[in-house]
Amino acid sequence: MPKRRILVTSALPNANGSIHLGHLMEHIQTDIWVRFQRMQGHQCIYVCADDTHGTATMLKAEELGITPEEFITGIKLEHERDFHDFMISHDNYYSTHSDENQQYSSLIYSRLKDAGQINVKSVDQLFDPEKNMFLADRFIVGTCPKCKTEEQYGDNCEACSATYNATDLINPVSKISGAKPILKKSTHFFFALSSFSDYLREWTRSGTLQEQVANKLAEWLDAGLQDWDISRDAPYFGFEIPGEPGKFFYVWLDAPIGYMASFKNYCDRTEDLDFDDFWNIDSECEVHHFIGKDIINFHALFWPAMLSASGFRTPTKIHAHGFVTVDGLKMSKSRGTFINARTYLDHLNPEYLRYYFAAKLNGNVDDLDINLDDFIQRVNSDLVGKVVNIASRCAGFINKQFDNQLSVQTSNPLIKEVADQKSNISMHYENGDYGKAIREIMAMADKVNQFIAEEKPWVLIKDDGNRDKVQQVCSDGINLFRMIITYLKPVLPELTKKAEAFLNVEPLDWNSLDVTLLDHHINKFTPLMVRVDPKSVAAMIEAGRESPELNNGPLAKDTDPEDIADDIEFDDFAKVDLRVARIINAEYVEGADKLLKLTLDIGSGQRTVFAGIKAAYEPDQLIGKLTVMVANLKARKMKFGLSEGMILAAGPGGKNIFLLEPNDGATPGMKVT
Ligand code: MSP
Ligand code: ZN
Repeated sequence: MPKRRILVTSALPNANGSIHLGHLMEHIQTDIWVRFQRMQGHQCIYVCADDTHGTATMLKAEELGITPEEFITGIKLEHERDFHDFMISHDNYYSTHSDENQQYSSLIYSRLKDAGQINVKSVDQLFDPEKNMFLADRFIVGTCPKCKTEEQYGDNCEACSATYNATDLINPVSKISGAKPILKKSTHFFFALSSFSDYLREWTRSGTLQEQVANKLAEWLDAGLQDWDISRDAPYFGFEIPGEPGKFFYVWLDAPIGYMASFKNYCDRTEDLDFDDFWNIDSECEVHHFIGKDIINFHALFWPAMLSASGFRTPTKIHAHGFVTVDGLKMSKSRGTFINARTYLDHLNPEYLRYYFAAKLNGNVDDLDINLDDFIQRVNSDLVGKVVNIASRCAGFINKQFDNQLSVQTSNPLIKEVADQKSNISMHYENGDYGKAIREIMAMADKVNQFIAEEKPWVLIKDDGNRDKVQQVCSDGINLFRMIITYLKPVLPELTKKAEAFLNVEPLDWNSLDVTLLDHHINKFTPLMVRVDPKSVAAMIEAGRESPELNNGPLAKDTDPEDIADDIEFDDFAKVDLRVARIINAEYVEGADKLLKLTLDIGSGQRTVFAGIKAAYEPDQLIGKLTVMVANLKARKMKFGLSEGMILAAGPGGKNIFLLEPNDGATPGMKVT
C-alpha cells in the first residue's frame, strides 16, 4: 500500500475552561486513529490548538485582573499538560491567537471579499450602555416572550425551548453590568453562505461525512441557508478585520483557520513538511477533522464553503461524535460527574479511560455513556483479567525455568489465526469502530487464555519429562500476548511500552504481526497494570463535586437545569394533560399489596385509577380530596382491572408518599399548567 500523507485535527478546546471528559473522549478517539495510522507506516500529523478569541475570554481575564493574553497563556499550559498526561500525541498544540492565524484569517477573508462573497449589512443589536459594548445573546437575560419564564438567555428559553431574538426578550438585562440594554445600529460583515447551497449539497454527499450527519445536513440545506455574520464590534478579543477599524472577526471565523495556523507553525518549526502540499486545492494529502456533533454546521457547511471560495482544498473527512454522559445523564457538577482531566488523573490511570472509550466508540454520532460500574468491571476483566493475565501466566516459567529463553520453533495454529485478523482489525480502526476492534481482540485473548488453561503448564512442570512442552506452551503464550498487545497499541501506548521492554523488542508496529519471536531472550516480567480500585472512582466523583464552578465562572447559571433528568422537548411536556380530580371513592383491592382503587371525578366524567399508595393512606382519608392526575395517559390493563390514568404524588415511597393537592379554589376538571 502506498504511504498515505494525513493531517488530523481535534476540535480546538475553548480557552475559557478546563479540559473535561468530553474533550478527552474526542482527543482519545482522534489519538487512537492517529497512532493506528502511524503504526501502519503512514505519515500522520496531528495538530490542535486552544480556541482563544471571543467575549467570554475577554471578560474572564478582566475579572481576574489580567490581560487576555496572560489568561490564555496560563490556560494553554494547563491544557497541554492534561493532554500530555492522557498520552495524546499532538505533533503541535498551538493557539488561535497567533501570527499565523491572523495571517491566514486575513488572507481567506480578503479572498472571500475579492470573490464578492462578503456583504455589509446594518443590524439592530442590544448594547450595554454602561459597559459600552454590544451584547452577544448569551450575555443578555430577560423574561421569555413566549412562556414568561424569567432569567432566560437572549437566544432561547430553557423552560419552553422557544427560540427568539434577544430584542424580543421582556425586560432584558445585561449579564455583564446589570444595565438595561439599548438598541443600537451597527454595521456587520456577512459571508454569503446562501450562495453555496448547491455546492454544499454536493459536498455533503461526497463521502466526506457519516451518513447520519449527511442526512441531518440535508434537512438544514432544505430549510435554506442564511448568510453568516462574521464580524463583531470592539471591544472584542480577536483579530481586527483588515481595513475595518473597530470591527473584529467573529471567533468562529478564525477558529477553524486555527487548524491551518497550527499546521503552518509545525511546518516552519520542524522544516519537515510543506504547508502547500497539504492545503493546495489539488493536494493529494488527506485532511481529517474529529469534532463533536454540536459543531457540525461550522465544519461541514461554513468551513468547506470558506475554503473552496478562497482557493484551498476542503477536508477529506469529518468524523463527528456524540456527547459523553455519565451513568446515563449529562455530566453534572452537583452529581460530581463533570470531571476535569486533572481530577481524573489525580485518582486513576489514564489508560483505563482510553480503553473504556475505545471499547465503547463505534464511529457514529450517538452519545457515549460512561457507566462507572461497567468502567471498573470492563477494565478489570478485559485488561487485567484477560490481556495482562496471558503474560503473567507464562512469563514466570520462561524467566525462572528456561533462563528467559523462548522456544526455537512453533507450529501453534492460534498464531496464524490471530495474525489473520490483521486486515479485519485495521478496517475497524480505520472506520472509527474501535468497539468492534476491541471485541474481536478480546475474543482472541479469550482463546489464548483457554489454550493456556487447557495445557496447564503449572501442572506439566511437575514432571521433568514435560519441560520442552512447558517452554513451548509459554513461548506461544508470550508470542500471542505480543500480537494482542500490538493490536491494542493505538489504545494503550504506555502499557505497550512496558510490554515491549518485557518482551525485549523494538517498538511494535503492524508488521510485527507477521513475525514470531523464536529462540528469543525476554526480560523479567513485572506487573503491567493493576486493577481499578472502586474506591478511587468514588474518590474522583467526590472530588468532582468539590470543585463546582471551576469551569464556567460567573457567567454560568447558578443551577444546572440538567441536574434533574434528561431534557424533554416542550412539545413532549405539552402533550401531558394534567387535570384537577376529586377522589369520590377509594377502596382496598383484594390481593393487592400496594394498590388502592380510586374513582376520580374530573368534571367531564369519572375515571378509575389504581394507585400504589396503600402504605401511605387509608381509603377513608382520601375520599373527598382534590388531587392532580394525568388525564390522557393510555388506559392500562392491570391484574385487577383497567387503570385509566395516573395520579401525581411525591416522596421516597412506602409510608412517605404525598398526594399532590391543589389549592382551594381548584375544581375538578381544571387544567393544571
Ligand atoms: N472552540 C470550539 C471548537 C472550535 S474548532 C475550530 C468548541 N470548543 S469546546 O471546548 O466547547 O469543545 C471542543 C470539542 O469538545 C467539541 O468538538 C465538542 O463537541 C467537544 N465536547 C465538549 N463537550 C463534550 C461532551 N460532553 N462530550 C463529548 N464531546 C464534547 O466547540
Ligand atoms: Zn419560554
